[in-house]
Amino acid sequence: MPHISIISSSVRTGRKSHWVALYFKNYIEENKLATVEILDLNEYQFPIFHERLRFTENPSANVLEFAGKITASDGVLIVTPEYNGGYPAALKNVVDLLYNEWHRKPVAISTVSDGVFGGTQVITSLQFTLWKIRAWTVPAMFPVPKAGELFDAEGKPTDKAALDKRAATFIKELLWCIEAKTYMDSKQAGS
Ligand SMILES: Cc1cc2nc3c(=O)[nH]c(=O)nc-3n(C[C@H](O)[C@H](O)[C@H](O)COP(=O)(O)O)c2cc1C
Repeated sequence: MPHISIISSSVRTGRKSHWVALYFKNYIEENKLATVEILDLNEYQFPIFHERLRFTENPSANVLEFAGKITASDGVLIVTPEYNGGYPAALKNVVDLLYNEWHRKPVAISTVSDGVFGGTQVITSLQFTLWKIRAWTVPAMFPVPKAGELFDAEGKPTDKAALDKRAATFIKELLWCIEAKTYMDSKQAGS
């Protein structure tokens, strides 16, 4: 079974996008699609990094733990809020921290906003940065408008059937990329 890490990117007091991260964890587990862990940037409380991990002498244990978890994940699902059309500094901080850890990593993006557009303006900037760092961004979207109305604090959706239908399509694309990468990795390892 593949392993997926969900990066919950908002460190804001009263954040709502974390509810979406909880929903995805529940959805993936309920449907036995993968093992899954939330990497909560609010729990890590990383400082603003002064250098990339590979050039850092004596990195802290939690930085190494985070990097190790990205490496060990078959795929990553980033849940990001939209802040003024962009993604939060806490997320850029950890994207830029790593390098080889992102290489060919299937990464799906779910965007979250207060407004009706579901954070769709975040997609281009985050996709571009992940492409630059050589991640494999999954061509599927999961915009969440009015997050506070669609989920409760445990990640339970108000309309489970509708959300699960959308999640099925979205997660299927991530799993396809994971499977394709696993196949190619094993093929190359054998050649
Ligand atoms: C600095 C900042 C900027 C924001 N800009 C937007 C925006 O441009 N459009 C929007 O719909 N919501 C915007 N929001 C609201 C967030 O999208 C909303 O809080 C949502 O729940 C996701 O963020 P959260 O996980 O931090 O709660 C902004 C919130 C903050 C804190």
